[in-house]
Amino acid sequence: PSEEFVFKHKGFYFQPDLVTPEYIDSLEDFEIRDSDVFIVTYPKSGTVWTQNILSLIYHEGHRDGTENMEIKYRVPWLEYNINNMDYVHRPSPRLFTTHLPYYLVPRDLRNRRAKVIYVARNPKDVAVSYFHFSKLSVILETIPDFNIFLERFLAGKVASSSWLDHVRGWSTHREEFNILFLTYEEMKKDLKGAVLKICKFLGKQLNEKELDTVVENATFDKMKTDPRANYDSMKSNLQERGKGHFLRKGIIGDWKNTMTVAQSERFDNVFKEKMKDLSSTFSWD
Ligand code: PPS
Repeated sequence: PSEEFVFKHKGFYFQPDLVTPEYIDSLEDFEIRDSDVFIVTYPKSGTVWTQNILSLIYHEGHRDGTENMEIKYRVPWLEYNINNMDYVHRPSPRLFTTHLPYYLVPRDLRNRRAKVIYVARNPKDVAVSYFHFSKLSVILETIPDFNIFLERFLAGKVASSSWLDHVRGWSTHREEFNILFLTYEEMKKDLKGAVLKICKFLGKQLNEKELDTVVENATFDKMKTDPRANYDSMKSNLQERGKGHFLRKGIIGDWKNTMTVAQSERFDNVFKEKMKDLSSTFSWD
């Protein structure tokens, strides 16, 4: 991949203008509080969706003047502190988002301190979503040909490296973390069930009305028109090229509309065998 768009640090591809190797290294010592919550994802797996759900769970029932605050401030990125927020002095509970692999997160997160919510999505849909997003985002290298993008994706030569390594790393090291695994697909099929699971994991009790509010505001259609959640503001910051939206389709199985049979088989040849040991945690068609 082009060095203009990614740099490799400790075996992982990062986005150059947003973070330095020194900052990544410093995160190892980042002080964790027991009340911290981290969303961890490989890109395009349901990050913003989960950010919005967490933000709704923590803020909606007891709004406190944060009505218009975008979720990127409520659940900011750990490694990409694009808003220059003071993470150290943020009041608890601090909510964070990260794409980091398990071996680069703050040391204190291991030993089961704080909570981690890991969301994974069918890698074929991830690849398709990533492909479209790379055409939209100015900070990603645009690869107009899906075939070429697919090879890059399968080889892990994209920002955040290999999907398989990411999911496998977090899955096989789960015992070290206080972690809840969710899939994009289960959130899509039963949003209320997924929200309840998250609440249970977080020890949050919402009443029926609060729960309904969270579910209602976390649907794709609702988020698409919610300026706090749809990332359309990135357009005005020129972080996006003109066409398209961050919230693109939001469906299961869109890969079938993009991949040819040959591309899908190519995907299976590279990933399927290696994914077998993950099938107790994740399984996709
Ligand atoms: S990123 O760049 O890593 O933060 O992207 P991420 O948020 O992980 O993934 C973006 C995809 O998630 C879809 N999305 C949703 N799907 C269903 N319901 C809701 N509420 C929702 N919110 C976001 C978004 O549309 C992207 O997927 P695609 O397939 O491209 O539509």
